[in-house]
Amino acid sequence: MSEQFRSMHEHTSLPYDERTADPYTRARVLLMVAIERNSLLTKHQMARSTDNDSVKKHLAIIRRAESLQLQTIGSLIPADETPIETAIGLEQMTVDLTANLAQNEADDYFKQALDFALLEDLDHLYRFAMLFEMTEGGNAELLTRGRTPIVAGRPTAMQHRHPVDELRAHFELKDVPLRTLMNHLTIVSVEQEKMLFYQNAVRAYPEHLTRRLFGEMADVEEQHLSHYEAIGDPHITQMELLVLTELNEAYNYFSAFQEESDPAIRRLYGELLGQELEHFQLAVALLERTEGRDASELLGEAGIPSLIELRPNMDYIEAVLATQVDLQPFDGEFIPEERLPADWPSFTFRERMNGRGSPADEVEKRRPRDRIRRPA
Ligand SMILES: [Fe+2]
Ligand SMILES: [Fe+2]
Ligand SMILES: [Fe+2]
Ligand SMILES: [Fe+2]
Repeated sequence: MSEQFRSMHEHTSLPYDERTADPYTRARVLLMVAIERNSLLTKHQMARSTDNDSVKKHLAIIRRAESLQLQTIGSLIPADETPIETAIGLEQMTVDLTANLAQNEADDYFKQALDFALLEDLDHLYRFAMLFEMTEGGNAELLTRGRTPIVAGRPTAMQHRHPVDELRAHFELKDVPLRTLMNHLTIVSVEQEKMLFYQNAVRAYPEHLTRRLFGEMADVEEQHLSHYEAIGDPHITQMELLVLTELNEAYNYFSAFQEESDPAIRRLYGELLGQELEHFQLAVALLERTEGRDASELLGEAGIPSLIELRPNMDYIEAVLATQVDLQPFDGEFIPEERLPADWPSFTFRERMNGRGSPADEVEKRRPRDRIRRPA
């Protein structure tokens, strides 16, 4: 493990060039930031509720390595990337990631949950693109390079739901393949990352509408995080979660390594993959030592048949949009809005949240009048 701790110089990367970087290079950096932050926060949470000295020692060391990995990846993002540009990058990444996960998801209910949230993050991309044009005179298509549709999804104003309507049925570890467990940890990490990013971005701009839109998006991402968290197996043990979290980090780095076109970033992914394989082996040993379990019970023999790929999903997104835009959750199921009962908890909740207008609606209404162009 000692070679994972280096000088701060080596834990700080040179940023990519925003003007030339491929949109999926940017997307993968944001994805890996989300994966690393989740691993770090999970280990902090675990350390707060264990009194086992060998577990505490393990967590102390690996958690520190995760924190430094997070800095190595996070410093790839250049200083001139604004929070609105990052938001567009996060939503493009989420849309194509969610589409990839949904198309490789064996559990029907989880797949439905992915398709459901896909249309909401699609709408976020559309709203942030309008905000970008309005406040920074930017063109989102130059960032996404036309790889991801910038179109209305399920309108953000319709996404405000009563917290109890985010409760979901859950799967059991033993009933689902490993790819489902990887999909789940990955999407939870990404929704958590957006929640945290938007909560912090609220203070980054002076304009009230921009602040309110970031606040509105932060609130929806909190819902998305709750929606996905609820689908995971609540009986998972701490050591099972530790093993699966390390495996998911390695799996995501391996996927990113296979796809990355920037040679320096690709090399970095290869290096961090090596570190994660070491974390994984140590976590497996700890599972065996502290819970007396054989890791093959948890991981099975089959392996993971496919990788996470970030690439265009135009046809898939269009098909989901055409058939599912009017769905809403009721009693853990997803049904068309017109079939909801009159006492659906979210009706009154949504009215309250939109009581003085939805910032996402306002961005759409104000766009032409407030268009500001950067001087040439
Ligand atoms: Fe990590
Ligand atoms: Fe979103
Ligand atoms: Fe989301
Ligand atoms: Fe790790």
